[in-house]
Amino acid sequence: MSIYFEEKSGTFHLTNNEISYLIKILENGHLGHLYFGKAVHHKENFDYLVEMKQRPMTSCVFKENNLFALEHTQQEFPSYGSGDFRQPAVRVQQKNGSALTDFVFESYRVQKGKPTLQGLPATYCESEDEAETLCITVKDELTGVKADLLYTIFAGRSALARSVYFVNEGNEDVFLDTAMSLCLDLPDYDYEWVQLSGSWSRERHVCKRHLQYGIQSVGSTRGTSSHNHNPFVALKRPDTTETEGEALGFSLIYSGNFLAQAEVDNWNVTRFTMGIHPLNFNWKLEPGESFQTPEAVAVYSENGLNGMSQTFHKLYQKRLARGYWRDRPRPILINNWEATEFDFTEEKLISIARTAKEQGIEMFVLDDGWFGKRVSDFAGLGDWYPNPDRLENGITGLAEKIEALDMKFGLWIEPEMVNLDSDLYRAHPDWLLATPGRRMSTGRNQYVLDFSRGEVVDYIYESLAKLLREAKISYIKWDMNRCITEPYSAKLPADREQEVLHRYILGVYDLYDRLTTEFPHVLFESCASGGGRFDPGILYYAPQGWVSDDTDAIERLKIQYGTSMCYPVSCMGAHVSAVPNQQVQRMTSLKTRANVACFGTFGYELDLNLLSQEELAQVREQVKFMKEYREVLQFGTFYRLKSPFEGNFGCWMCVSEDQNTAIVGWYKILNGPIQPFQRVKLRGLDSSKAYCVDGEEVYYGDELMNIGLVTTDNSSGQIVDGIEPSGDFDSRLFILKAKK
Ligand code: DGJ
Repeated sequence: MSIYFEEKSGTFHLTNNEISYLIKILENGHLGHLYFGKAVHHKENFDYLVEMKQRPMTSCVFKENNLFALEHTQQEFPSYGSGDFRQPAVRVQQKNGSALTDFVFESYRVQKGKPTLQGLPATYCESEDEAETLCITVKDELTGVKADLLYTIFAGRSALARSVYFVNEGNEDVFLDTAMSLCLDLPDYDYEWVQLSGSWSRERHVCKRHLQYGIQSVGSTRGTSSHNHNPFVALKRPDTTETEGEALGFSLIYSGNFLAQAEVDNWNVTRFTMGIHPLNFNWKLEPGESFQTPEAVAVYSENGLNGMSQTFHKLYQKRLARGYWRDRPRPILINNWEATEFDFTEEKLISIARTAKEQGIEMFVLDDGWFGKRVSDFAGLGDWYPNPDRLENGITGLAEKIEALDMKFGLWIEPEMVNLDSDLYRAHPDWLLATPGRRMSTGRNQYVLDFSRGEVVDYIYESLAKLLREAKISYIKWDMNRCITEPYSAKLPADREQEVLHRYILGVYDLYDRLTTEFPHVLFESCASGGGRFDPGILYYAPQGWVSDDTDAIERLKIQYGTSMCYPVSCMGAHVSAVPNQQVQRMTSLKTRANVACFGTFGYELDLNLLSQEELAQVREQVKFMKEYREVLQFGTFYRLKSPFEGNFGCWMCVSEDQNTAIVGWYKILNGPIQPFQRVKLRGLDSSKAYCVDGEEVYYGDELMNIGLVTTDNSSGQIVDGIEPSGDFDSRLFILKAKK
């Protein structure tokens, strides 16, 4: 891994064995973009990549040079108003009404490792030789605004992390109203855009379309990264498959409003930008003040979408997620939400926990409804002390009883919210986000606390820390159940009101940071009505997240498949729930529900007391299986093999690092009569190793990868007595073990 600077040609080259990234200081001092892709040799210059042609209707930079026009130049940090008419990476409003800037190269420095980003989640290194960071400083002389463009390249990874740090070194206030984390100009537009979109209960479905002239984008203006669109986009070549061909992946490490956008101009250049959504964002920089953008990660893959995903998985699993639980197989839990919702007593909870313990389950999680006057969703949020009418021994007493069963105890919280019927609201009616003179929109009967205010975050921190200090709590599920409306803080001055949504997220990160620092052994799971804030920003604090409120196995197949585009299995909360399923009323077998959920941080979310003895025996087997293989499932290399978006089958697999163990999950959606024979080509095995499949037949790795694993089920011929017939929503797990 190296970062070169060629003084004569003004060329920067960041490269490792996998990728190259080329930047050049242009004639006007701006930074030009030359290349991002597979690694190339280093040279003194790559000037042939700055292509200039005289074109009509062009505004040129210099009077004496009618070839150099910004609108035809690929750039790193473009702004609007001086001849580049595309969407900018930066916009700075000034006192005189102008928003023009002229960011000119000032200096650069290269440092080993990677600096942390103040108050923001980001990828990191554990030792300095894991990465190198280039910081290029550009300055707009007239306003005095400086920007440090940060580029980190990691040893052995096809990934580049980028962010921008602004400082106002001028004498006047300025306002940043666009501050993208990443801008990348690509020389053509022959890409399919892949986004992860959906809604509550249908998160992160894979949607594709070819880029077209003009602007295409996804984003969120909801105050959270949202169920609707994820802060992730891939650009892949039309013939790129899951395993072959070029793909670029972009991911924003941020949990608030975001924009991911591609603008294709009429000369076929694609400008990709990603960062905080500029709508309702305007950050005041007084002289001397600074602003750090969130980090964006760009990944290059020549091994298709799978290759791209695996780069994200390994980076996010090992160098974004942190702490005690990062590398540890996750406890198998039982959560009471779908079993009881708000209707529980201590006795009922203990009975669920006891039965769970008998099946080998390791942790009991008490969900919503234990605090304040919370017996429905109309009251209690904000009052983080147990309701003695429901839990006579409080949380401390309940946790002791659960621990006495030799189980761990986990607890649900929703710290960012308040109900009007709460002691907190009665004491501090101005602590929520609301715009003066305007109606407050409501969502789930609750309102959003103003986390841009330090004293609000302090208060919530103290209430939660008290609980965690007093009771033996091993896990926290941190929920967030509404979008932000009327974003306005009673405390911010008028000219800073449009900072509120970013300040809110900084407050959320601050609370996460303080709690995870004081309680490093507590496992945090993020949640936002399921997957409404399932993003890399939260992953920095909470190594696992509730993927979706939809627990139906067939819906989950699509949701987990889509989620895997960017996120590792180790962060995907997945539970077995009761049937008919609460969200879609579908009946699926206990086997299929577990076969999908085991590719995640596994648990149950139903009243096990209602299961038959046969079903409980099955649960015991599932728990045993999970304990034996969770290391491979959660931390192995994940391969998507068949897309449930593209046919009647889904298939994926995880392979252990030493390639000695692999688990294949095969899923059929609908059954049909006399179905064709079927094979699936596996991936990631050692060609020369002989693998025993399900303890029976032995096949070489190359056989399984080149010929395929036979997955034909019992719907491909007449049903014979004694063989279990296959029906709708059938599934199988294949366990592969290399022979010694
Ligand atoms: C939404 C979550 O996604 C559910 O799992 C559950 O915790 C409820 N909130 C509780 O209110």
